[in-house]
Amino acid sequence: MTANTTQPDALKQAAGRKAAEYVRDGMTVGLGTGSTAKHLVLALGERVRAGLRITGVPTSRETAELATAQGIPLLAEDALWPIDLAIDGADQVDPNLQLIKGGGGALLKEKIIAAAATQFIVIIDDQKQVPVLGGSFPLPVEVIPFGWKNTARHLEHHVERALLRMRNGQVFVTEAGHYILDLHIARIDHPAQLEAALHTIPGVVETGLFVGRTHMLIVSTATGVEVRHAAL
Ligand code: A5P
Repeated sequence: MTANTTQPDALKQAAGRKAAEYVRDGMTVGLGTGSTAKHLVLALGERVRAGLRITGVPTSRETAELATAQGIPLLAEDALWPIDLAIDGADQVDPNLQLIKGGGGALLKEKIIAAAATQFIVIIDDQKQVPVLGGSFPLPVEVIPFGWKNTARHLEHHVERALLRMRNGQVFVTEAGHYILDLHIARIDHPAQLEAALHTIPGVVETGLFVGRTHMLIVSTATGVEVRHAAL
């Protein structure tokens, strides 16, 4: 498939539609969140209406609503999910297919679903590729509201700044009822080590670092869609 325009949404659509080609009849599919994953869900909806039988596991309420509107049946939240394939967007991807996710605030469900999946495909436009994670995009970390200022202080032993995420003048609250601290880090040279260190801090629920989870990357560029496989 070739994207014949450099419009960002057309690139996202090309990546989402390409990923939908990897979904086979009978699969349970983790459905990502965000403006790229939206195109995946729309493409799967078309295939479902044409007879494809799949079951979805959504990474957010927004995705659940879209998938339901598209006619994709969903598994219950408290089911045991044998997920064959999860497909999701990302905010940054480095050359080792390590990711920052959580720009939309859905990182906790996204990571639970990626971890439950046999295969994890990441879909991006080429703007998301970076030589090193960090820099222009802060790392989201989901924290318990109780004592969050203390958690932020602990986090600032590891990073330059930990800023409480706000939306429309209010504290942003995740679907699980937590806050997000956006960590400003000039460069993340060792994502696995940073993730492990952040998880030692009481109050940290999850981080937006996805390390060693991506099996395949689909990148949409102005000249076409590229597929890369990870050496996991
Ligand atoms: C949601 O919390 C995020 O992890 C998204 O998957 C990520 O921000 C990519 O979203 P876009 O496709 O909208 O850039």
